[in-house]
Amino acid sequence: MNKDKVICPCKKVTKGDILVAMKKGALTYKDVKKATGAGSKCGHCKDDVKNFIKKHKDDI
Ligand code: FES
Repeated sequence: MNKDKVICPCKKVTKGDILVAMKKGALTYKDVKKATGAGSKCGHCKDDVKNFIKKHKDDI
């Protein structure tokens, strides 16, 4: 996985940023949004962020 890949262009949030937030306990879209800002502007990344969380929940 390329951790530098931006998943939310609006807020410049990368996959790595989301993993860090998840490691700190943000395991829902709402928590990740609060922790990183991902999805808090246009919302177009919402499904990508949700899928990302679902996919990586078990390996953190
Ligand atoms: S792309 Fe994430 S809020 Fe716009």
